[in-house]
Amino acid sequence: MYYFRDDLQQKKPINIDVPHKKTMMCLNESSLNPLERIQTEFLEKMKNVPLNRYFNNITGQLKNALSEYTKLPADHLIFGNGADEMLFTIFNAVRNDNNSFAVSLAPSYFDYKSYSGAVGLGMKFLYLDENFDFSVDEYLKLCDDENCKLAVLCNPNNPTGNLLPDEKIMQILENFKGLVLIDETYFEFSGKTFADKINLYPNLVIVRSFSKSFSSAGLRFGYIISQPQNIRELEKAMTIFHLNLMTQSFVLTLLENKDIFLNHTKQVIENKQVVFNELNAINGLKVHPSATNFLTFTIGEKTENLYNFLAENDIAIRAVWHHPVLKNHVRVSISNANDNAQFLNYVKKFMSKFYE
Ligand SMILES: Cc1ncc(COP(=O)(O)O)c(C=O)c1O
Repeated sequence: MYYFRDDLQQKKPINIDVPHKKTMMCLNESSLNPLERIQTEFLEKMKNVPLNRYFNNITGQLKNALSEYTKLPADHLIFGNGADEMLFTIFNAVRNDNNSFAVSLAPSYFDYKSYSGAVGLGMKFLYLDENFDFSVDEYLKLCDDENCKLAVLCNPNNPTGNLLPDEKIMQILENFKGLVLIDETYFEFSGKTFADKINLYPNLVIVRSFSKSFSSAGLRFGYIISQPQNIRELEKAMTIFHLNLMTQSFVLTLLENKDIFLNHTKQVIENKQVVFNELNAINGLKVHPSATNFLTFTIGEKTENLYNFLAENDIAIRAVWHHPVLKNHVRVSISNANDNAQFLNYVKKFMSKFYE
């Protein structure tokens, strides 16, 4: 007897296949533990947030703080447990029946496929070309189907790191009749957003995260920006107390101290440039420009050997070579100056062994 949805039986469990090493440069996390910087303020706030209650006015305060941060009215926002939960909610809310599907570029954020699969929403992919660009006509052709409920665009794109051309995103917003989801998880690193166009496009939904710039991957906080009528519909597909009051208090504290994290972001962007320049100067290594907190690069056939060499030396980076567009590529998350220097040292050591 199988107790679950028919399509779940064929699916693989969702898991993240990364090595666990002393120096973690594989999940685009921050090297800063936010609690170290805001512990006193957070604990002070928690004194007024009794955890025996479902409701607390912290929720309203957080909405207002996020509204100030995004420069949008509070009725344009909903939040939850990470960008992942926001993606899951959107996928769940647009799925109409077994024929419903979404369109995404590929390679892109791996879990679009996991979470759309989890709610029984199909997904069709258009491959990026070797410049990580795409044909908007081809994209719109894939979307031109009454069962296509969602167009997904990751901007900047993970794992390629690049921003998609503005005019192509606009063309999709203007020509696709369904919802267009722009994933701006790396917004604070790219400085690029479509949030200022939210009132021009009733089909636009933006997803953002506090895991990257706000250094809080383990906290799990993300949010959606859209017009109020979309926010109301999405709320119908969520449970009411899904985001605990402790997380809400912590996020409010993060926002009240946002300069710490935005300055840290600036530092990461500078560190990224240093790592980029150093990698770029290595013979036989190709590194791609990136508007995020990671760099994607290749040394060709020997990339997997380099990945293993780094792992043997307790440094975890991410294998992203499974998609043909990123054959022989790996991705490294920018960390603090110490980790970055260590990473660069081992890359240089490996390259001198093989190439000189
Ligand atoms: C493009 C993209 N979207 C969403 C997420 C998930 O973010 P969160 O940790 O907020 O769930 C990630 C995480 O790496 C990501 O790279």
